[in-house]
Amino acid sequence: MPGCHEEGDGMTARYRIWRARTGNTPIWERAKVLFGNRPGLVVALVMASALAGMCESAVLALVASIATALVGQHSTVSFQVGSLHVEARVGELLVVGLAIALARIAVQGLIAYLPARIGAEVQAGLRLRLFAAFSRAPWSVQSADGEGRFQELATSQVIQATQGVMQATLGVTAGVMLLVLVGAALLVELTTALVVIGAGLALFLLFRPLGKVGSLRARALSSAQLEYASGIHDAVGMAEETQVFGVGETQERQLGRLVEVARRRFFSTLFLGALVPGAYQGIVLLLLVGGLAVLEATGSGHLASLGAVVLLLVRASSYGQQLQGNYQNLHQSLPFLDRLADAERNYRATPVIRGTRVATNVPPIAFDEVSYAYNPARPALRRVSFRVEPGEAIGVVGPSGAGKSTLVQLLLGLREPASGRYLVDGEPAETWSPSWWSGAFAYVPQEPRLLQGTVAENIRFFRQLDDAAVERAACQARIDSEIMSWVNGYETLISQRAKAVSGGQRQRICLARALAGNPVVLVLDEPTSALDPHSESLVQESLAGLKGRLTLFVVAHRMSTLSLCDRVIVLNEGVLEAFAPAAELERSNDFYRKAASLSQFNSIENSP
Ligand SMILES: Nc1ncnc2c1ncn2[C@@H]1O[C@H](COP(=O)(O)OP(=O)(O)O)[C@@H](O)[C@H]1O
Ligand SMILES: [Mg+2]
Repeated sequence: MPGCHEEGDGMTARYRIWRARTGNTPIWERAKVLFGNRPGLVVALVMASALAGMCESAVLALVASIATALVGQHSTVSFQVGSLHVEARVGELLVVGLAIALARIAVQGLIAYLPARIGAEVQAGLRLRLFAAFSRAPWSVQSADGEGRFQELATSQVIQATQGVMQATLGVTAGVMLLVLVGAALLVELTTALVVIGAGLALFLLFRPLGKVGSLRARALSSAQLEYASGIHDAVGMAEETQVFGVGETQERQLGRLVEVARRRFFSTLFLGALVPGAYQGIVLLLLVGGLAVLEATGSGHLASLGAVVLLLVRASSYGQQLQGNYQNLHQSLPFLDRLADAERNYRATPVIRGTRVATNVPPIAFDEVSYAYNPARPALRRVSFRVEPGEAIGVVGPSGAGKSTLVQLLLGLREPASGRYLVDGEPAETWSPSWWSGAFAYVPQEPRLLQGTVAENIRFFRQLDDAAVERAACQARIDSEIMSWVNGYETLISQRAKAVSGGQRQRICLARALAGNPVVLVLDEPTSALDPHSESLVQESLAGLKGRLTLFVVAHRMSTLSLCDRVIVLNEGVLEAFAPAAELERSNDFYRKAASLSQFNSIENSP
């Protein structure tokens, strides 16, 4: 898909725009997301890490002092901590060291527990929030998403974002330990420690730009993964067509290109992620040797404290390396977090129906000069006006692309008119209560979709409906006897791809789903266009049975379906060309006549 690549050659320009929007946000402002809004857990983690750092410093200082004493064959050890002079026996110090080392092990449990808990909670929270935002988003926003995109966001990209959370919590531990060890080194031997620490800080700043590069690469990786996910979605969804048309190899090559883009971007993030901490560690060791050389040259320092300071700083440098790695990887995870936040913001657009009005009757429905455009240059509906009385059956005809499905989506409240008014019972559509609306309006899409589950679950469709309502709807949709002929009846497991369910049966199960909630307005988009004659006549029988009890809108081409309708809307290029009873249109409307004669030809062809 050319033009869909978000990065690539235009990467730097886009990155600059992205930086202008989010990149200047300091990491600590994102801390709320990173730490899952759990300050208590973070404070506990800081305290546990500080305690661990103190234990570690104490053990290291003791080890250095005892080693020096043993080398000099002394039975007591004396050392300096700041201005405090300590003297103790080697045996006593060994016991103290043992106790502190055991305490360090105990604290480690807490240091492992807290990040794990924060990480798991943040991941669950991201998933729940993202899905809640998606499922409450208006259809106009949901349908604008590429196929497979949301799946990728909610699965793999959430995992990658959670990596950032883990890096942040590990970074907290490494940072606190580093500070404590450095503090201890400063206490023991000020000059050497200062030289090494100053150089270490300079080093950290030197590597900072690489964090930005990593972030940029990760942003590119995130979009490459979204494109790959869309490619996979299409490949799986159209596997049957791919076989028939023998285009498997071409598809494979196309997917291969998406994989290649993702591979390159994944490689560079992995490489940077590993390179930075490794290089950092090597240079720190150099600095340490340099620090000692400075000490040697100036001739300052006490033997025991010199050993301690070297041990402390070597250990500190490994926490420094860890922190550098965490910082790098965090930068590489932030784009995933940002993308999730963007998606969430986007989904949180206001839904169309959001008032409190309810009705007990079947309301009249009217469009008053309604226009709608996906693309401002070419409106899909232009100033459409009509009024439909309660219980009327309305056909909608028009050539492909005339705006029939768009009209259906506006009728269902899935999209909001760009201009003009949609009135239900004389009141604007957006003032009605969402729960009343979703009970009152029902829909059978052109392409019926089944859930993976039982027939009953498919008809019930997450609503609180008892078995009687499910079976009544199945009878109304003329599918009941077929369901009962299956061994497991309503408990039969079905799914979109189940071969046991024919297209016609699927359509009628979806009709039952629409009827189960006792709607007052039923909208069908070309319900019989792809049906076998048997199913077609059953659907028609069902619609005939419903006539007068609810308001019916049927997008249709078949004469047999249109003849059920009281009046027919003729749409052409988004304009309502005519709205009259079928018999009248047959005399007066060219398009209707053409459509009608064509469908009569079709029904002759289709008869058994
Ligand atoms: N989601 C969409 N995004 C952009 N354009 C769309 C979308 N859906 C439909 N259109 C365009 O709007 C016009 C009307 O489409 P539609 O209502 O689906 O027509 P019909 O159902 O009569 O075939 C067509 O030009 C179509 O290309
Ligand atoms: Mg359509």
